[in-house]
Amino acid sequence: MSSKSPKGIARLVRPLVRRLHAYVPGEQPKVPGLIKLNTNENPYPPAPAVLRAIRKAVDPRLRLYPDPAATPLRQKLAQLHNCSPAHIFVGNGSDEVLALLIRAFVEPAAAVPASRRSRATVQYLWPCYSLYPVLAQTHGALARPVPLRKDFDLPTPDELRRGRRWDFKAALSFITTPNAPSGRGYTTDTLEELCRAQDGITVLDEAYVDFAEANAAELALRHPHVVVTRTFSKAYSLCFQRVGYAIAHPEVVSALDTIRDSYNVNGLGQLAAEVTLDHLPYYQRNFARIIASRERLHRELAGLGWRVLPSQTNFLLAEPPGPPAREWLERLREKLILVRWFPTPPLNRYLRITIGSDPEIDALLKAVRSQTKP
Ligand SMILES: Cc1ncc(COP(=O)(O)O)c(C=O)c1O
Repeated sequence: MSSKSPKGIARLVRPLVRRLHAYVPGEQPKVPGLIKLNTNENPYPPAPAVLRAIRKAVDPRLRLYPDPAATPLRQKLAQLHNCSPAHIFVGNGSDEVLALLIRAFVEPAAAVPASRRSRATVQYLWPCYSLYPVLAQTHGALARPVPLRKDFDLPTPDELRRGRRWDFKAALSFITTPNAPSGRGYTTDTLEELCRAQDGITVLDEAYVDFAEANAAELALRHPHVVVTRTFSKAYSLCFQRVGYAIAHPEVVSALDTIRDSYNVNGLGQLAAEVTLDHLPYYQRNFARIIASRERLHRELAGLGWRVLPSQTNFLLAEPPGPPAREWLERLREKLILVRWFPTPPLNRYLRITIGSDPEIDALLKAVRSQTKP
């Protein structure tokens, strides 16, 4: 068979790639009137100055490459975090940062003998952001899920030692904090205890941290093996622009710089993120609104018999009463409300609901009430 025929081309795809299951993102349907509470987007728009800056930049200069090192953005982020720009790495969304961390610090399993499996291990406290195993497998690394406690709290290093599944020498470990999809928040002390016990790179994925009571950015400045990742997507209403970053030791940043694409962050994204940082009070007001809406939704759903987990994010994980969560997903969809459901236990008992605007939450509650027997 010619390798140029469609079947022949399929045979040329690397076996590792053929076996992979791609990450499944939340749906982005274009249904008029749909209330989208499924991908943790921010219900409020970027600050008006951000929109103005983007509009103004859309001119013939688009023919030029952007700053390859995102220098002004890194300077502003360094100021925000009280560190030097050498501690900041910017990526095409934090997803790119997570992928590059694996590529820089983890060996493909085929490259190491069994006695050095830790060098090829990507481990993560699970449930967590479901992209981690996909990134590990894409790299040919060993993906190692280790369960959180039943209530999604962090195990202590001693508990992890007793459980024997956690590898304290793993090349790279991910902790989603606050946790997604449960919404559970963790204290910096507990995180630091885990980080101290760890030998390899330890990534604290703080995608939702602006909605939480504490953040652990200081740990990345205190411990050279700790990396904190952040995103402009959720709290800063910039999903469309794809900008994320890491706070890390300069050696880590330099390793990531070595392997990234030369222009990994697009120019409009860099600009939008820079202007965002000039208008933090606008966003802080939005965090407060989202947190207030989250607490209202929590109370009201609990009043309707739902078991709602405490959240420090812009979403709630909640177990509906009566019919299974999957059926609720479909019933809500019929009412043009889209939430997220994960098919694997223990998550399949729950729905994950992004905190929308107040009218969106009112519509959700109305739909829930209409499905709830008195
Ligand atoms: C925990 C977590 N980390 C990272 C990301 C990726 O965010 P970004 O849009 O910056 O790639 C997400 C997005 O859903 C997330 O939930």
